[in-house]
Amino acid sequence: MDYIRTEIIEVNAKYPEPTMIEHAAKLLHDGELVVFPTETVYGLGADAFQPAALERIFAAKGRPFSDPLIVHIAEEHELELLTTTISTEAKRLAQEFWPGPLTLILPRGPRVPLLVTAGLETVAIRMPRHPVALALISALGSPIAAPSANRFMHISPTTADHVYSDLSGKVPLILDSGPCEIGVESTVLDLCSDEPRILRPGGISLEALRTILPDLQPPIQRIRVDEVEEILAKKAPGQLLTHYAPGVPLLLFDGTIEEMHTSMLAEIERRYARGEHVGILVAEEDIPTFQDSNALVYAPGSEDNLVQVAANLFAGLRSLEEAHVQVILCRNFGEQGLGLAIRDRLLKAAGGKFRK
Ligand code: TXA
Ligand code: MG
Repeated sequence: MDYIRTEIIEVNAKYPEPTMIEHAAKLLHDGELVVFPTETVYGLGADAFQPAALERIFAAKGRPFSDPLIVHIAEEHELELLTTTISTEAKRLAQEFWPGPLTLILPRGPRVPLLVTAGLETVAIRMPRHPVALALISALGSPIAAPSANRFMHISPTTADHVYSDLSGKVPLILDSGPCEIGVESTVLDLCSDEPRILRPGGISLEALRTILPDLQPPIQRIRVDEVEEILAKKAPGQLLTHYAPGVPLLLFDGTIEEMHTSMLAEIERRYARGEHVGILVAEEDIPTFQDSNALVYAPGSEDNLVQVAANLFAGLRSLEEAHVQVILCRNFGEQGLGLAIRDRLLKAAGGKFRK
């Protein structure tokens, strides 16, 4: 792939400057890629109706064509361009949670390029709530297909710096509006199966979705990356347990707080004795337990404030990576609210295995 000079421009997160949005929309219109902020993570956008531009997304990320993209819209009427049927359920969910971090899997409309859906007859659609994302979609006058703006297999970016370190030289423009508010990706909800089901827990919690879909079940917990995973990956692409991988191995601990503390301290000592540089990701409340250990500690937030933990989670993993630790030990933050999404990303980074 040819080297492209990457420009970063700062855009006001609340009141995006029209000249900058127009500059970005012009690039998209011309079939180029633009990285833009959303309330979840930064997205790597292309005009959803230009196959040549869509191809560039896969090339820039090093992402296989088998992994479908989410299409971002700014207004509900754009749904008609993208899908054939809008069920009452879909309407109610859109009314309640859009704009916001919910992606709906709906039947693919005939105009949607198969590159977007990886050949599937379904399409993932969401209306983000970030003013810059909404302004950009409106200025382009066309939906924007965008995966998270990270290298394939790396953690999603929540700042423009994260994007730059993964994609500099591969994209012409990054719109920088500061850190993303939510910090984990959208919840992906499949409305094309017999029963609605969560394919990826994310920014909208299971509890919130149950106000509209009372019988909605938690996502199936996948245990290991094995042949079953491979089969599942073909049905629900991008759901591989190794999808979100930091550059260093991650061990995810489970059990009571005391059990996690004891096993993590023992693991730190064992590795320190072997000369390894260990990083840990824990809650603020855990800091006293680890402050005299031989580990580099990062605490994304309080265990009682999972909104804060989610917002800082990916930045924390990246900062430990950049500190050149050889392993990251991480505690579990439970399953309430955003806990489910946090656990999902950590479990994927840990190759699907808990440590006791
Ligand atoms: O918050 C987000 O969702 C961010 C921002 C940029 O919007 N986007 C994002 O995109 O996380 P990406 O490509 O990294 O993840 C999209 C997920 C993948 O797991 C993909 O497999 C799934 O959505 N997906 C997309 N289309 C699908 C479809 N038709 N059926 C099942 N899963 C689909
Ligand atoms: Mg992604």
